[in-house]
Amino acid sequence: MKKRLGLGTWSWGNKLFWNYQSANDNDLRETYEEALKRGFYLIDSADSYGTGKLNGRSEELLGKFLSDTSSFQKKRIQIATKLAPYPWRLGNKGFTRPFLNSLKRLDNKLDIVQIHWSTAKYNPWQELQLLNNLCDLIDQGFNFQIGLSNIGPQRLKNIIQYLSKRNRKVKSVQIQFSLLSPDSMKQINVKRICESNQIDFLAYSPLSFGILCIDPETNENKQDSLLRSLIFKNYTEATIDLRRCLKKIAVSRSVSQAQVAINWCCYQGVIPLVGMRKKSQVIDISNVFKWNLNKKEFEMLQDASENCLKKMPRNPFSSV
Ligand SMILES: NC(=O)c1ccc[n+]([C@@H]2O[C@H](COP(=O)([O-])OP(=O)(O)OC[C@H]3O[C@@H](n4cnc5c(N)ncnc54)[C@H](OP(=O)(O)O)[C@@H]3O)[C@@H](O)[C@H]2O)c1
Repeated sequence: MKKRLGLGTWSWGNKLFWNYQSANDNDLRETYEEALKRGFYLIDSADSYGTGKLNGRSEELLGKFLSDTSSFQKKRIQIATKLAPYPWRLGNKGFTRPFLNSLKRLDNKLDIVQIHWSTAKYNPWQELQLLNNLCDLIDQGFNFQIGLSNIGPQRLKNIIQYLSKRNRKVKSVQIQFSLLSPDSMKQINVKRICESNQIDFLAYSPLSFGILCIDPETNENKQDSLLRSLIFKNYTEATIDLRRCLKKIAVSRSVSQAQVAINWCCYQGVIPLVGMRKKSQVIDISNVFKWNLNKKEFEMLQDASENCLKKMPRNPFSSV
């Protein structure tokens, strides 16, 4: 199967975790342009991306870059956003205004609309009403496909059935998927359901916020923000053997640790959404198109992942 890579834009506008600085917006534009040039097929955003006053910033930046893109190039890329099912976005019209706002920010280019997380834990009916809302918008002539995020296998099966009653399909599902993500059985079950229903499985945080890229010899912590720095400190010791394994493969192939971690995703046929904010990162990651992990390397990484002392935290809104 042909490898597909997506670009994630959570850090674009996020000060709290990613220490976003608007002075670096040109780096983001270059990141976007390079991703288009190097055959990334999808760009993922969300209406909740951007902290405080910067809410919506990721979509706004993407919209600005899209407006300077030729229609030929725009046709080759898919733009996905996630609408947040906040408890006050209720009923069969709860998403209408947020959808229109995202569409406007994204310069009218919106191919996949995903529900950011499952409401199963606080209001199980809400996400079904919001799905109806999305189906109504499509019926009214808006041209997009429906995606889900942070969904478990049971809920996914229910939603597939629910949408089929309205003659609609789930286009994509994104969940946390990396060498450090928790709940591997749940992920495998979601992946199986996706495979048997021709749903794209998108792997988010495939580099575990960048932890998997830290050199195990120097343990250099990027000190981006207090929060990210604390998380990195917390995982330095616990992930050392896993990162040694990544480095061993990286050195033997003359590639980066990041490429090895992304190719671990690709080996399993999933589509990684890689968070990037520099052109050099896109150039590095695009080399993943040029090589594959072999079975032995994959198994070494699996072992190291299974034996890793600490996994990433679960998303609290992920459903069963
Ligand atoms: N659905 C959800 O709830 C959800 C949750 C989280 C994420 N996501 C999506 O998934 C995307 C990716 O996840 P993520 O942003 O959490 O992080 P990630 O992809 O796991 O890690 C991104 C970080 O890794 C570092 N990195 C990237 N390429 C690198 C390279 N070639 N070499 C070295 N370091 C590299 C960068 O850190 P520096 O820039 O600091 O160097 C980058 O910011 C998000 O942007 C978002 O679109 C969705």
